[in-house]
Amino acid sequence: MKILVTGGAGYIGSHTVLLLLTNGFEVVVLDNLMNASIESIRRVEHLTGKKVSFIKGDIQDKTALTSLFNEHAIDAVIHFAALKAVGESSTIPLEYYQNNVHGTLCLLEVMANLNINHFIFSSSATVYGGENAVPYEESMPLGEASSPYGASKVMIERVLKDLAQSNLDFRAVCLRYFNPIGAHESGQIGEDPKGIPNNLLPYVAQVAVGKRERLQVFGDDYSTEDGTCERDYLHVMDLAEGHVAAVNWLQKNSEFTGVEAFNLGTGKAVSVLSIIKAFEQASQQKVPYTIAPRRHGDLPAFWANAEKANKQLGWRATRDLTQMMTDTWRWQSNNPEGYPK
Ligand SMILES: NC(=O)c1ccc[n+]([C@@H]2O[C@H](COP(=O)([O-])OP(=O)(O)OC[C@H]3O[C@@H](n4cnc5c(N)ncnc54)[C@H](O)[C@@H]3O)[C@@H](O)[C@H]2O)c1
Repeated sequence: MKILVTGGAGYIGSHTVLLLLTNGFEVVVLDNLMNASIESIRRVEHLTGKKVSFIKGDIQDKTALTSLFNEHAIDAVIHFAALKAVGESSTIPLEYYQNNVHGTLCLLEVMANLNINHFIFSSSATVYGGENAVPYEESMPLGEASSPYGASKVMIERVLKDLAQSNLDFRAVCLRYFNPIGAHESGQIGEDPKGIPNNLLPYVAQVAVGKRERLQVFGDDYSTEDGTCERDYLHVMDLAEGHVAAVNWLQKNSEFTGVEAFNLGTGKAVSVLSIIKAFEQASQQKVPYTIAPRRHGDLPAFWANAEKANKQLGWRATRDLTQMMTDTWRWQSNNPEGYPK
């Protein structure tokens, strides 16, 4: 089975490509490298001893997409390619809608023209918004997204639903990720943000390795156990396994049509201060931090009910917090500057 992975050179994409290869899938990666390095693909090839067909290109380029699909007999598409920084999306909303929404429409249009009907979409817990009670369940209505990034995910989920109603052969899975962290246990591939990291763990890791002076913890007066925000962190390799499970599920359930959403999380919430402590323990490094004011739009705490993925996909996150921290530190200390530039 041949899979097109858009954004496959990025953080979650590269870990998923690795696992697809070790599970016997053929993989084609399309990535414009706007937030990734080709070195991630080289390392995946080295780790697996298998070849990836890599195409440098943009999902908005319908001509390039058409020739890619004509050249490769693609059975399913896993669609990671997107801009993903929540804060930045409020500053440059048009870029986010253009890249994420318009880019996905281009991809879906070319797929429809060529009758390619299996689609796995990188959605996010952010689609639940602040209105729903925790833990989030897939049956809940989608919320009012608090950022253009979140809105782009809500819009795409809606597009997929409408598309599936118009084309009964179309079969899609929306995987709603909670907070992926960690790295492959080899320490060879991991998260390599350009510029100042937007997510907590890469920031913590860069402070620990001496690249940044201190961490800012946004708010310690939330109604949580220690006053800091709580999130459902899951290991990126568990997340990658969720994608393989989704591909297998689509393949096995040939009678299924439509769109099915699954939460991928551990079902547990961990506070920012607990993350710092766990990271210090795993790395034996100090992570200096200061408490800063709350950030607009941050919710106090959310986590997944991940039972549906367990029951239907046979998936469960198995790696614990210590492993998430140890693997992050191995990647960061082996690659203090990320991939070679
Ligand atoms: N990392 C998270 O915390 C998180 C949480 C929920 C959902 N997601 C979603 O998961 C997906 C992957 O996230 P990630 O953390 O691996 O991000 P990433 O930035 O590491 O990966 C995205 C990849 O897509 C590529 N890309 C972006 N726009 C493109 C375009 N127009 N054409 C071709 N390639 C393009 C980038 O170069 C990059 O390699 C994204 O859709 C993101 O929104 C991420």
